[in-house]
Amino acid sequence: MYAEFHDNLITGNEMIDSQHRELIQKINDLLKSCEKSNDKAVAVKTLDFLMDYTEYHFNAEEQLQKDIGYPGYAKHKAQHDLFRQSIGELHEMLEEEEGPSPAFVKRVQDKVIEWLYVHIQGFDRSVAEYKFMRESNERL
Ligand SMILES: [Fe+2]
Repeated sequence: MYAEFHDNLITGNEMIDSQHRELIQKINDLLKSCEKSNDKAVAVKTLDFLMDYTEYHFNAEEQLQKDIGYPGYAKHKAQHDLFRQSIGELHEMLEEEEGPSPAFVKRVQDKVIEWLYVHIQGFDRSVAEYKFMRESNERL
């Protein structure tokens, strides 16, 4: 099952939303590479792309929170760090396998896709709302 950007994932912040679309694309690229071939090198490469983009996106989101003085920054960053760790574990798992196994794919679904859906709907949406409120107050 691929990840999908449904309307319920929209936070209302253009930067965050467009990066989430890209992130979902990268997750699906990984799943497709696992499906298409059992080639470990290809899977490692697409996982590397996902890791790089995750880092880029998390840094952008964390910087945004610092810029707007978001009070939940530390908790939010801790969530990002957990995810960074999960991706690292996926990397180790893949390195130990001959090629991407069904267990690896299952783990991507549980630890990446499910995590992201929950994170976006709670943590990211609250950042977007805080930014919006802050800007509305400034306009008053
Ligand atoms: Fe986030």
